Amino acid sequence: MGKDQPSYSFTKKFLPWSFYCIIPIAIFRLYFYPLHLVPQSTTDQLPNTQHTVITFSSSSINREEKRVFETPCDFTNGSWVHDKMGPLYNGTACATIKEGQNCIAHGRPDLGYLYWRWKPNQCKLPRFDPHTFLQLLSHKHLAFVGDSVARNQLESLLCMLSTVSVPNLVYRDGEDNKFRRWHFASHNVSISVYWSPFLVKGIEKSKSDNLNKLYVDYVDERWAADLDQIDMIVLSFGHWFLHPAVYFEGDSALGCHYCPGLNHTEIGFYDVLRKALKTTLKTITERTGSNGNVKDVILTTFAPSHFEGDWDKAGACPKTKPYKEGEIFLEGMDADMRNTEVEQVEEAKENAKQFKGLRLEALDVTRLSLMRPDGHPGPYMHPNPFANGIQEHVQNDCVHWCLPGPIDTWNQIMLEVIRRWEGQSRREE
Ligand SMILES: *[C@@H]1O[C@H](CO)[C@@H](O)[C@H](O)[C@H]1NC(C)=O
Ligand SMILES: *[C@@H]1O[C@H](CO)[C@@H](O)[C@H](O)[C@H]1NC(C)=O
Ligand SMILES: *[C@@H]1O[C@H](CO)[C@@H](O)[C@H](O)[C@H]1NC(C)=O
Ligand SMILES: *[C@@H]1O[C@H](CO)[C@@H](O)[C@H](O)[C@H]1NC(C)=O
Repeated sequence: MGKDQPSYSFTKKFLPWSFYCIIPIAIFRLYFYPLHLVPQSTTDQLPNTQHTVITFSSSSINREEKRVFETPCDFTNGSWVHDKMGPLYNGTACATIKEGQNCIAHGRPDLGYLYWRWKPNQCKLPRFDPHTFLQLLSHKHLAFVGDSVARNQLESLLCMLSTVSVPNLVYRDGEDNKFRRWHFASHNVSISVYWSPFLVKGIEKSKSDNLNKLYVDYVDERWAADLDQIDMIVLSFGHWFLHPAVYFEGDSALGCHYCPGLNHTEIGFYDVLRKALKTTLKTITERTGSNGNVKDVILTTFAPSHFEGDWDKAGACPKTKPYKEGEIFLEGMDADMRNTEVEQVEEAKENAKQFKGLRLEALDVTRLSLMRPDGHPGPYMHPNPFANGIQEHVQNDCVHWCLPGPIDTWNQIMLEVIRRWEGQSRREE
């Protein structure tokens, strides 16, 4: 913490605790019971989540460009610049997009959000090259593990790779496609997705029980049992932690988050997220480090949502352009989640030093995603939402990302991380 919470970001600190309680509940009702809109009385209480926009003239932007060769480019700081080329694929051509993220097919009228590319301050981010990606992953198995944002990133990657090679779905299990695997025969690359919204063992809320239950010192074996068949793992989670939950550690209850009426201490969710990630990274390190398998671990950092005003009204995330650098700051919950994740990856890197071949990296997309309020499906999570005029209640998705869209950039950066690893191992040989 600290680094990304400059002193001018005081607004969120003074927001009442309820900010962190009510919003997530509303969001989660939306995601998991999308057909049941919350009653008007609840939505009326929603505080406005619009980010405070502060502009300032920065001298730091003109800071001397450091192009030290040994220092790898920091992809996290930069700006979105216009790009005539547009995306690698479109929704009609890609077969693996989840309905709710196929914004163009659902009638989203503005397409300007497709014509931006991320420009890091210190370097150029190359356009995603599907051939290179498949070559680097040849004979390997890449697994995405996490929540629906992990799935969103996976589907972006599949669409980009599909432009050069057609994947075969070779495995599927679970309702709503929660566990799937594809095979790219051209390069013998396997890519899979494992549903595990906490990474650790957990019991997800159900209609009869509104609380998640998390066991922070056990990994979720639904993915971890397959670790010996996975060469590279992308972890992505966070949003499920905002929801009411009871936490267990060892044999006893650790506390809870937003569980009025239950005899547990409110402990928030940051420490629990930290513990869950620590357990996850420690388990991967121990299980793979001890048998000497090369294992690459990438953690995609928390991606902010962009709800403004009432989440169930038209215009819940209405922006059609990215924020400019200096127009929005990483702060509050988004910054805390991201910082906790980056800190845990750094700690795991230290622990992994004793094991040759284990590589970990944070794919730090929080800031660049924060700057893309225009990248969400919003009402276009459903086909043609305004076909019968603007209704009183409009479901909006301001958490996930349209495909194609800004989330493609995450995979573009991931390819650079993998390339960098490859370069390093070549030099070491
Ligand atoms: C990135 O930007 C933040 C805030 O603007 C700054 O504090 C940080 O030093 C920058 N990082 C790099 C590597 O330039
Ligand atoms: C989408 O892809 C299809 C098939 O490649 C192509 O025919 C169509 O023109 C594309 N649409 C847009 C909007 O680029
Ligand atoms: C394909 O890749 C898998 C690992 O994902 C490996 O076990 C298998 O031997 C490879 N097959 C061929 C034909 O190289
Ligand atoms: C609540 O928990 C405390 C401490 O664990 C215990 O002493 C107390 O009896 C519990 N109260 C109820 C109503 O269960």
